[in-house]
Amino acid sequence: MTERTLALIKPDGVRRGLTGEIVRRIEAKGYTLVRLELREATPELLAEHYEEHQGKPFYEPLVEFMLSGPVVAMVLEGERCIEGFRSLAGATDPTAAAPGTIRGDLGRDWGLKVQQNLVHGSDAPETAEREIGIWFPTS
Ligand code: TYD
Ligand code: MG
Repeated sequence: MTERTLALIKPDGVRRGLTGEIVRRIEAKGYTLVRLELREATPELLAEHYEEHQGKPFYEPLVEFMLSGPVVAMVLEGERCIEGFRSLAGATDPTAAAPGTIRGDLGRDWGLKVQQNLVHGSDAPETAEREIGIWFPTS
């Protein structure tokens, strides 16, 4: 089943010079890059993107972090790539993420900066469609 998903390299990944390494892993897995852009998020865009998290204690720091530098926004295409990219990314908390995953190999302990975990990936077909529309309204 060929799918599309939205993947982001968050500001910590771009700042740490991990863009190439993360894109390498995506391509090595066999997913196709349909769109790829270095972007500055805006509060309005993030309010839509993180709609499900509005009101949670980590929401404000998360948005502030996502505005702290450019992000790489990508649309990936491939067989079951929604689940597949989440699997490549690993668990939300980098310390708990398995070795071999992006967060497990490259992510740092959350410590005080809990929102920094390098990447985002859509979590379901409806979410992927919604998030691709938010980041790439023309696609
Ligand atoms: P979530 O959608 O639960 O995780 P994932 O990115 O794995 O889909 O949360 C969105 C982001 O919010 C997550 O990547 C990091 C941040 N976050 C926190 O800062 N603290 C938390 O307790 C949680 C659950 C998430
Ligand atoms: Mg999520």
